[in-house]
Amino acid sequence: MPRNPEIIIVDPDPDARSDAKHVLTSSQLTVVGEADYGIEAVTVAREHPPDIFLVSMEEPVVRAIRTIQMLEGIAPKAAVIAYSSLADAGSVRRAMVAGARDYLIKPLKPEDVTRAIYGILEQEERRRLQLEGEANEPVARGTVVTVFGAKGGIGKTTIATNLATAMVQATNANVALVDMDTRFGDVAIMMDIAVERSIADVARRIDELNRESIKDSLVRHHTGISILPAPLHPTEWRDLTPQHIEKIVDLLAQGHDYVVIDTPGTFNEIIATTLELSDIILLVTSMDITSIKDTALALEMLRTADVPEEKVKLIVNHSTSSNSLREEDVERVLEYTVTWRIPHDYNVASANQLGVPIVVAKPYARVSRAVTDMACALAGLPRERKGFLERFVGRAS
Ligand SMILES: Nc1ncnc2c1ncn2[C@@H]1O[C@H](COP(=O)(O)OP(=O)(O)O)[C@@H](O)[C@H]1O
Ligand SMILES: [Mg+2]
Repeated sequence: MPRNPEIIIVDPDPDARSDAKHVLTSSQLTVVGEADYGIEAVTVAREHPPDIFLVSMEEPVVRAIRTIQMLEGIAPKAAVIAYSSLADAGSVRRAMVAGARDYLIKPLKPEDVTRAIYGILEQEERRRLQLEGEANEPVARGTVVTVFGAKGGIGKTTIATNLATAMVQATNANVALVDMDTRFGDVAIMMDIAVERSIADVARRIDELNRESIKDSLVRHHTGISILPAPLHPTEWRDLTPQHIEKIVDLLAQGHDYVVIDTPGTFNEIIATTLELSDIILLVTSMDITSIKDTALALEMLRTADVPEEKVKLIVNHSTSSNSLREEDVERVLEYTVTWRIPHDYNVASANQLGVPIVVAKPYARVSRAVTDMACALAGLPRERKGFLERFVGRAS
């Protein structure tokens, strides 16, 4: 609030003006100008735009109203207070409609003027702080991508670890990978990291953490991704509530471009919360009959939970080499479009066992290229089309 608000008095009657000025100055208020209606008011306002216009409003009120409207154009940040000998509701309403923020009845009393002026300035200040506060709010929030599936052994962790890695490789993004597998928690093994702190430790300290300090609890992997592992012992999940999950995912999303979340092949309240917080759900199915049957149930469950369909992308992962079904059959049975397909590659198993994502171990393998394409598509980038041969022989296609 301006410590010493500056005021211009607008009144066609010079005697009334000097009375008003006397009241203001006796209240230690600063009058920086005084004027008649119309051009004179506009000229004075242009010379010295004030915080407040004190505008007299007598019959006929048309000139006063016109003047208020003109002053608003000249000094839009200044507030208008009308003062008048007319005490009827109609006059007050007309002044307010014209843009006056307060209405005082003549004769002006110092305490009324002071209250009106400081009341308006305080309101302005509150509004300014509110707008500033809103501007300082973290508007940026990364994309939460959850790899979900109806059962285990279909390649969810393989996809989550490789997708997170491919996102860093292809887009240089800031990526957090969270192991939300409440049963087995394989991310640490597949990424070959030691679990010193897990999501359970983060949950315990969640009230002290913010989007920066939570990063200290993540394992910085040599691929560039930051990993929040599952607890070593699954019983530790018992201490985690949906509120913990909400806060953890929210803080991670505030500090990363992408948060990739791996899940178990089961459904519980932690997973329900995770799905709710996700911007994209990658629903993984393998090509065997039981997986497709379970995926149909998962799709039904997501629909029942009102998860919007555009959030759910179906991924067919050829985790086994058998090929009795075709992808068209999968789409027909599930009545759902397959968005991405991951080919079978026997190198996946060995890469997983070595703790090196296949997109790192064999970046030009078809499976790596499929995952990288998916990472690019999620980032809204064109596909990385170059394979090993193209890179090796230059521009050959
Ligand atoms: N595209 C693939 N090609 C070959 N093997 C795969 C593929 N995807 C997954 N696998 C293998 O399938 C098994 C299960 O994968 P995993 O990612 O642990 O599944 P989930 O997390 O769903 O339990 C692992 O042995 C993995 O190496
Ligand atoms: Mg898994």
